[in-house]
Amino acid sequence: MSALPLAALRQAVAPQSALRAGGPEAEQIGLLWNVLLVVGTAVTVGVLAFLAYALFRRRGDADETQGDRRMRAGVRWMVAGGVVLPIVVLMPILVLTMRTLGAVTLPSRTVASADEPPAPGEFVVEVTGRQYWWEVRYRARRPDLEFETANELRVPVGRRVVVRLRSRDVIHSFWVPGLQGKMDLVPGRTNALVFTAARPGRWRGQCAEFCGAQHAKMAFTVVAEPAAEWQAWAARQRADARPPADPATRAAQGAFLNSGCVLCHAVRGTPARGDAGPDLTHLASRLTLAAGTLPNTRGHLTGWVADPQSIKPGSLMPSVPLEPRTLHAIVRYLETLD
Ligand code: CUA
Repeated sequence: MSALPLAALRQAVAPQSALRAGGPEAEQIGLLWNVLLVVGTAVTVGVLAFLAYALFRRRGDADETQGDRRMRAGVRWMVAGGVVLPIVVLMPILVLTMRTLGAVTLPSRTVASADEPPAPGEFVVEVTGRQYWWEVRYRARRPDLEFETANELRVPVGRRVVVRLRSRDVIHSFWVPGLQGKMDLVPGRTNALVFTAARPGRWRGQCAEFCGAQHAKMAFTVVAEPAAEWQAWAARQRADARPPADPATRAAQGAFLNSGCVLCHAVRGTPARGDAGPDLTHLASRLTLAAGTLPNTRGHLTGWVADPQSIKPGSLMPSVPLEPRTLHAIVRYLETLD
């Protein structure tokens, strides 16, 4: 196989592919896609074949009776090809489309307002679109079980997840092609989407509605893991940040708390309470930085804190000049937030 089809194939099974269905909702959409592909291909080939026939066939001169017969045959072909065939082809597709819609969306009456607690047994995550990142809040019937993170959705395998979608600024769109279709996040209202990850794995999601300069770098990861692992993760996320264990870390924390970082970011368990940027309480446990833009490593973290505007120009995080010592102390502290 040459390089191009191989690259296309690799893309088709990549973590952001709609063809790599991760659960029942994505499978339903995948089935509809495959049916449309087959039917669409058959119709296109058929139309082209008739066109080729009409263009290249030889026809001799006809007398009057033959002409009449050809005219009647022509009318029959037009009725069959222009009325009967579209009905026969489009009706089953319409039915399948309606059934798919019914299977992958929540009935509108069950879409709760964002502030309501989840119904008993319901797994609800509230995702708020911000320029250009995702605020993720795990809802619970008991307020002390709720917690907040960013740019990452961890879910238990096999659990039906209801995602409540809101926006704090402009319209964004929540899209994890491997798990569901798209849904907009619209300021002033709550939309809802449901997905189930049928097996453990990671899927990449991406904002799918142009929302400003860094729309392209507004990604996130969905991680599905066994229920026990998810519970352990959730318990760690609910906890406040661990207090510094040694003098060096205490000094590093001091550097962080004295910096401008705290004006926009929160670290639960410390005086940092900012709300303009992602909650950093468990930053070190996340896979990526800057909403799926960079892998969460020391080098990238240092580069990001030092000069975010060179990585995401136009994002709301300013590039603040920092003394190298302060920069490294801040990074050192952030690395302890696991
Ligand atoms: Cu958010 Cu595009």
